[in-house]
Parts: sequence; C-alpha cells; structure tokens
Amino acid sequence: MSNTSFLVHKNNLFETSFSETEKPELDKGEALLKIEKYAFTSNNITYAVVGHQVGYWNFFPATEPNGIVPVWGFAKVVESNEDSVKIGERVYGYFPMSTYLKVKPAKQSIRGFVDNSEHRQALPPIYNYLSYVQSNIPGEDFMPIIQPLFTTGFLSYHFLKQSNFFDAKQVILTSASSKTALGLAYFLNQNQADDGLQIIGLTSQRNIDFVKGTGFYDSVISYEDVTKELSKSPAVMVDFVGNAELAKTIDGYLVDDLKFISRIGLTNWKSGDGFNDIPKAKFFFAPDFIKKIYEKWGVGKTTEMVQTALSDFIKIASNWMKIEYIETNENLSNLYKKMLKGDVNPSIGYLVKLKE
Ligand SMILES: NC(=O)c1ccc[n+]([C@@H]2O[C@H](COP(=O)([O-])OP(=O)(O)OC[C@H]3O[C@@H](n4cnc5c(N)ncnc54)[C@H](OP(=O)(O)O)[C@@H]3O)[C@@H](O)[C@H]2O)c1
Repeated sequence: MSNTSFLVHKNNLFETSFSETEKPELDKGEALLKIEKYAFTSNNITYAVVGHQVGYWNFFPATEPNGIVPVWGFAKVVESNEDSVKIGERVYGYFPMSTYLKVKPAKQSIRGFVDNSEHRQALPPIYNYLSYVQSNIPGEDFMPIIQPLFTTGFLSYHFLKQSNFFDAKQVILTSASSKTALGLAYFLNQNQADDGLQIIGLTSQRNIDFVKGTGFYDSVISYEDVTKELSKSPAVMVDFVGNAELAKTIDGYLVDDLKFISRIGLTNWKSGDGFNDIPKAKFFFAPDFIKKIYEKWGVGKTTEMVQTALSDFIKIASNWMKIEYIETNENLSNLYKKMLKGDVNPSIGYLVKLKE
C-alpha cells in the first residue's frame, strides 16, 4: 500500500493536494507505524497558521512548498527493525496526515517511546512521545479530539493558579466554545468554591446557546455585547480567539481592572495581529509550561491528575459533543477548508478514519 499524505501549501493555506509516495523503507533501529485514525480541530488549523513561526512544518517534512499538518491520533506498528518495538503494538501520539510514519524509537519503557528521528530532535519533547495503548479502549474516539486540548486547559488553569489569578475576580475566556477553552472552564468551574472566581465566556452570537449548555460558565456574552454586559471588576483574560482588536476593546473598557491577558489560541486567525501594543498580553505555550509542572509533580502524578479529570470531562462532553467520522479524502479536504474558513460547529468533534 502506498503512502498517501494530505499536503498544504505553506504560503497559501487554501491550496491543498494529496501526494502518493512509496511506503517508507526501514533502516536498522527504525519502525513503521500505520496511522489508524486522528482528530481534526481548529488547533490543527493553528498549527498550519503558525507553522513557520513555531516550527510545526518541521515535524513531518514534505516536498517544498508543501507541508503536512500534524494531528493527534492512534497508530499501529506494522514493521519493525528495532527489537524493543513489536509489530502489532498500538500507540497514541502526534502523527502526519498520512498513511504511514517511520520512527526511530528511543528511551523505550513499558509506557512508550520517543521518536528520535534526526529532524524532530529540536522540537518540543511532548510532541515526540508515543504512548502504548490497548486496542478498543472504551470511548477512545474522544481521546485525540479532547485530550491534547483538555491538557492545555489543565495547564493553563495551574498557570493562573500559580500566579494567584493575577488578583482577578473574574476570568474571561474568548472562543469559549472551543475545546481548549472548555477544558480551562471545566477546571475553573470545579474549583470555583476555593478560587472564588466568576467564569465568563465570550463567543460568537451563533454559539451562545451551545456555550451556555455546557454549564461551565457563570455568564456567556457575545463578542458584540462585551462592553454592554461585562462587569467592571478585576479580570484576567485567557485568549483563545487571537483577535487583538477585541483584546484592545476589553482593555480599553476595563483599563486597570484588566490585570493580564494569557494568549493561548488563534482560532480567528484572519483577525490580524496587534498584540505587541498590549504589554499585559503574554503568550502561553503548553509544551513549555508542562516542563515546569513535571518538575513540580513528576510525570506520573501529572498524568494521573489529567487522566482522572479527563474521563469525567469526556462523560460530560459526550452530552453536548457528538463525533462525526471522516472516511474519504474528499471529505477530509472539505473539512480542512471548512475549518480554515471558520465554519466550525463546536458540538461536533471530527475523527478522521479513512477507508482503504
Ligand atoms: N498555546 C498552546 O499551547 C495551545 C494548546 C492547545 C490549543 N491551543 C489553541 O487553542 C485554540 C482552540 O483550539 P481548539 O482545537 O480547542 O478549537 P475548536 O474546539 O475547534 O474551536 C472551535 C471554535 O473556535 C472558534 N473558531 C474556529 N475557527 C474560527 C475562525 N476561523 N474564525 C473565528 N472563530 C473561529 C469558534 O468559537 P467562538 O465562536 O466561541 O469564538 C468555534 O466554535 C486554537 O487556536 C489552538 O491552537 C493553544
């Protein structure tokens, strides 16, 4: 079977194609993974948007000027020239939008291994780790759709908590309907009795009912109504939408009451930059912050904390999010373009499971 990849022109994200190449040949110490299924959310669009800046195009190089967008999903070892990695093992991790990925396993343990391929070594370690998983874990299709984003929600919660929430009385989350924002909102909601913070969701008019329905927010406001409905009390803003004009509007409205802006996402990637004019806005990068959390609690305890909360979150989320399966290349290409244009329904989680 040849290797099919979904390619994106790195300088014109609307130009896409599929490439067909030979199945990768293995050298000594390498293994071949066949990608089973993966999630696709706005996060993957952001990988493409900031691909040059943050280095996301470097994970799975393609022939210039094209790139391959990374995705989270499951794969199976189908060939192995590395004794410690057995054919038939199943892994969860970071993959190309392709049929196969050749890896160079290192640092093996019973939990998984690192892909030590030359071109990946300078990239954040969290993306290079592949965890062994069982087959058919109950509810596993939610895992790639939610886990990476929910983990960012967990990390951003602990970042804010460590900073004493910047002395805020309210936390304002933009793109409140996004899975990453919902992850943070879940932790804020769970800890509300201790933290004493109001949880405010800002979203598009069309997503107001969806965001209210999650039950995580104390109040939900449309972007247009923010200066009419937002209360003037000390606030920290956690920004998933990446719209500098909106951030300036809120800063101008709250003035000294806006203590800090934690910049996490860029769902509205066409809204243009301008955050350099707002000194209180600082970028939060989950792969960097997780290193601090690992130093503090260790990998085992951190993973356990995330996993316990994640299974609770998935139970709740399955009430308002359904999975839609993408089974053909044509539908995959359409989904990518739809999301790139911002035509996103937050009540659907997309799982790509291409038919052979
Ligand atoms: N810094 C980090 O380490 C880190 C880690 C993980 C994720 N993130 C970022 O967090 C963001 C959210 O990702 P996600 O996968 O959770 O998103 P998602 O669930 O796919 O979010 C969907 C929502 O995003 C908004 N949206 C999407 N595309 C848009 C567009 N083109 N124009 C305007 N609004 C758009 C809409 O929300 P509203 O109507 O509510 O605005 C939509 O309902 C991404 O930018 C992602 O890269 C950052």
